[in-house]
Amino acid sequence: MKKLTKIHKAVFPVAGLGTRFLPATKAIAKEMLPVVDKPLMQYAVEEAYAAGVRHMIFVTGRSKRAIEDHFDTAYELEHELEAANKSDLLRLVRSIMPDDMVCSYVRQPRALGLGHAVLCAEPLVGDEPFAVLLPDDLMCGPEGGPGVLAQMVDVFQDYPTSLVAVQEVPLDHVKRYGIVAGDRVGERIVKVRQMVEKPSPETAPSRMGVSGRYVLTPSVFNEIRNNPRGAGGEIQLTDGIAKLMATEGVHAYEYQGKRYDCGSKQGFLEATVDLALKHEEVGASFRDYLKKTVC
Ligand code: G1P
Repeated sequence: MKKLTKIHKAVFPVAGLGTRFLPATKAIAKEMLPVVDKPLMQYAVEEAYAAGVRHMIFVTGRSKRAIEDHFDTAYELEHELEAANKSDLLRLVRSIMPDDMVCSYVRQPRALGLGHAVLCAEPLVGDEPFAVLLPDDLMCGPEGGPGVLAQMVDVFQDYPTSLVAVQEVPLDHVKRYGIVAGDRVGERIVKVRQMVEKPSPETAPSRMGVSGRYVLTPSVFNEIRNNPRGAGGEIQLTDGIAKLMATEGVHAYEYQGKRYDCGSKQGFLEATVDLALKHEEVGASFRDYLKKTVC
């Protein structure tokens, strides 16, 4: 029987300034903006937990304290809820931080890029494969099916190389993404031959764009460390992963589900509407409201 390779650790790069959401993000982390009633950050952590990850590693920066507080016990709040007999709310608050989940925090002292942020987590990750989740990308698995990271952990069992989640993007959007191209080797699996960060539409090798979900082997750290700065003068994660094509190999996985680019106002609003429509408490009444008001 095949031995299951578990992914124990996930890295969440959350040091970005969130300038696209100013003034909302002047004093709070963009990852704490709620989609309906849950901060973006929590969606990503729940996705990782559902994929079997138990050690969450946050690469933070200044003004990100709310993230640490969110994944911690809130004594006063819990005490008040207990005293008021609000057991449902108490359960909800406690469920954010299951007993078997561990959170670690490391600072990214300078904004040198996504690759650099991931490299800051190296001492906490050590020498084992790990996941990276960009919370700006809110990923919903298919209705009733596994989340996107859980799908990737599953694929990693058969393709134990670094793995990036991809989807097709419009040609005029390729400059926003890491773009990959390669040979199809399985259902939804491509062996990556080319990988380039934010190409122009003229030079893009395909329209297959990387979403913010990765399962990476620890050799990526050395590649990032030895990489010169890439697109936008930043130390790019894409460039580090691209180096692995020649050594261990890299695969791309066409995930099942839907991605919301919550780093943009449009994506954030789309996520809010879709998730509100599915929400247990407000879904039905929100649908009625939309029917009455949207022409
Ligand atoms: C980052 C990555 C890019 C990836 C994207 C997905 O870019 O560098 O390769 O396609 O996330 O959201 P960013 O959106 O941080 O500019």
